[in-house]
Amino acid sequence: MFPRDFAWGAGTAAYQIEGRVFGEQNGDVACNSYELWEKDLECIQQLGLTHYRLSLSWARLLPDGTTRRVNQKGVQYYNKVIDDLLACNVSPMVTLYHFDLPQALQDQGGWKSPDIATLFDSYAKFCFRTFGDRVKLWITINEPYVCAKLGHEDGIHAPGLKEPGIAAYLVGHNMLRAHAMAWHSYNSIYRTEQKGAVSLAINSDWLEPLHAGCTEDIAATYRHFAFTLGWFAWPVFVTGDYPEIMRSAINAQSKKLGYNGSSRLPSFSKDEPSILGTADFFALNYYTSRKVKPGEGCGKILCMKSDRHTEEVLDPSWPICGVSWLAVVPHGLRKLLKYIKDTFNHPAVYITENGFSQVGPLQIEDAQRSEFYKDTILEVAKAIQEDGVNVRGYFAWSLLDNFEWADGFSVRFGLFHVDFADAKLSRTIYQSGREYAKMISKYKCGQEEKR
Ligand code: GAL
Repeated sequence: MFPRDFAWGAGTAAYQIEGRVFGEQNGDVACNSYELWEKDLECIQQLGLTHYRLSLSWARLLPDGTTRRVNQKGVQYYNKVIDDLLACNVSPMVTLYHFDLPQALQDQGGWKSPDIATLFDSYAKFCFRTFGDRVKLWITINEPYVCAKLGHEDGIHAPGLKEPGIAAYLVGHNMLRAHAMAWHSYNSIYRTEQKGAVSLAINSDWLEPLHAGCTEDIAATYRHFAFTLGWFAWPVFVTGDYPEIMRSAINAQSKKLGYNGSSRLPSFSKDEPSILGTADFFALNYYTSRKVKPGEGCGKILCMKSDRHTEEVLDPSWPICGVSWLAVVPHGLRKLLKYIKDTFNHPAVYITENGFSQVGPLQIEDAQRSEFYKDTILEVAKAIQEDGVNVRGYFAWSLLDNFEWADGFSVRFGLFHVDFADAKLSRTIYQSGREYAKMISKYKCGQEEKR
């Protein structure tokens, strides 16, 4: 059912698991993977993963964000993680930026500053140079949508800014510039020798019109896709520029509210490396689905909600599990994979995140989550077999229960339970972890037989 070299993975991110060593400003311990990495490796082996997705902490490696000062202990830590993985026959997929920006760079304007792109490029080159002899799958930036919109328009994620209607577009733009610069650096300096692949992880829900035959709902669904998946995937995979419906909707709204500045959606400069073609595969983070219809805006205030003029609706037949935003819709993944194949020129796809959470009361025997993994992997198999999508790998989110951003430790996505009340932060496999391990072993075994 799955190609011979299919990647069976699980993922984590530095800030969500590593914790900080004593003496640093932030006392968060998270899963203390900085000290308990060997325990994580045991979990990875217990699952039988072929791949492990981790992120590097930019601040741990380069404390002021620049290559002027390198923290050798950080380099040693990641060298050990990478070497240990390879010694166990597990390939690392490494994300350079997963929501944790060095404070020194935030103080200089963070992702809103145009200079961030070259700073990111230097950091990326440092990582390619230092780890690229062993890392063959790279993700530059995780979910630019979330950082741009939730971090700079809604103020829910770091850096917690609420600057609606302007900042998110600027941040998204600088993230695309940063990603493209890093991809070009890899392409021209490192690719020949290192032979790896580089992409950015784009999150997207599967979207459908609320009423299948309704013209307004269909148009709203197109707009919503353009302002989410299309915002980042269209420039990289199709034209080198934003979707036209996104730009025209933003400009029309500016005009309506008498905003006289230049377009709030920036333009790519011809003097900078092109954005088009800067992904060697499609990295998709999929969690949930939505129905879409035309929506209300924010009145006289500029905001993305008014620009896109859409509303997301949950289908009552979709179960909500754990967090309120997460309607569990495994078949939405299959539809989205087909949509990606058709819209973005049939790319190789890695599903770099997928999962669902539980909130208390906790169950180690989490039967519902086990069923979810079974259903989802079946949908992925159908996408490959019946729809001809070139899916190359699947990474469950997450290896471990971890620090779930604004929800702290209350929301658990792990295949392994972490006891945050225990000083040893002990890890215990959930039923869903056992189920995932069983599926991996079954499909890997099938792959062996086909050989
Ligand atoms: C993603 C994010 C992950 C994880 C997940 C579950 O947006 O990349 O870090 O938190 O959501 O909410």
